[in-house]
Amino acid sequence: ASLAALLPGRALSADKPLVLGFSQVGAESEWRTANTESIKSAAKDAGITLKFSDAQQKQENQIKAIRAFIAQKVDVIAFSPVVESGWETVLREAKAAKIPVVLTDRAVNAKDDSLYVTFIGSDFTEEGRKAGRWLVDKMKGNAGPINIVELQGTVGSAPAIDRKKGFEEIIAADPKFKIIRSQTGDFTRAKGKEVMEAFLKAEGKKINVLYAHNDDMAIGAIQAIEEAGMKPAQDITIISIDGVKGAFEAMIAGKLNVSVECSPLLGPQLMAIIKDIKAGKSVPKRIVTEEGIFPMEVAAKEFPKRKY
Ligand code: AHR
Repeated sequence: ASLAALLPGRALSADKPLVLGFSQVGAESEWRTANTESIKSAAKDAGITLKFSDAQQKQENQIKAIRAFIAQKVDVIAFSPVVESGWETVLREAKAAKIPVVLTDRAVNAKDDSLYVTFIGSDFTEEGRKAGRWLVDKMKGNAGPINIVELQGTVGSAPAIDRKKGFEEIIAADPKFKIIRSQTGDFTRAKGKEVMEAFLKAEGKKINVLYAHNDDMAIGAIQAIEEAGMKPAQDITIISIDGVKGAFEAMIAGKLNVSVECSPLLGPQLMAIIKDIKAGKSVPKRIVTEEGIFPMEVAAKEFPKRKY
């Protein structure tokens, strides 16, 4: 949709540097740190003035930050919504102030999609499917049952909802796959470890597979598995998502079987879109990041090429 059509009446001056208000989720993972770095450096390279706010994984902090950006009359607001729901009111306030909003990384489930201009980020459902397809292939010829424990991301967040959905969609084709425990680890190493300890206590050697919605939780869980006297990636097959350097290190050490890529390097694309919006160009409603999958067998070869 073109900005002129969406937000008639708001003139963006060509001579002053653009001001972007960005509300980040927090600093919960290695992925998030790389995402923040990408946004900060891309803003600098693009000559865009960045007002950056860290919400510490709280929606109320993001809403406050967005309201502050509206009061400061920034040119564009971008944010990575911690959870999917509950954004309509504040997005309507931005629209009334004629400030375009760009979603990065995570989606909102607002019915009115005129409340944001575009959404740049990964297809989380497809990431879940990739994880599921890898497992189905790995377990070919294994009669089962295959007992899976799942470490979910932040409750109510788009990646937690979609990665669960995509994975379940694939494994549902074969009843030998059973998710025997599923709980949130909030995308952090500490919580991943804590919840895995509880899974191990309850299920012990029954656990065949761990599916973690991000690498950080898998890395925390690996510690718990080792402390329980088991061998990660051998006694328990481990699948996670992101493809951060920490995951590659774990794969090279033989402790993680596979990581599905989710790129945090959204900064340059975000700045380019903001400039297009400023220029009144029509931008796509959805921009999907292209991503791969890295099993442990290719980790050592791929590692030197990794940028995050
Ligand atoms: O929204 C992307 C997810 O958020 C990443 O997979 C996770 O590591 C981060 O915290």
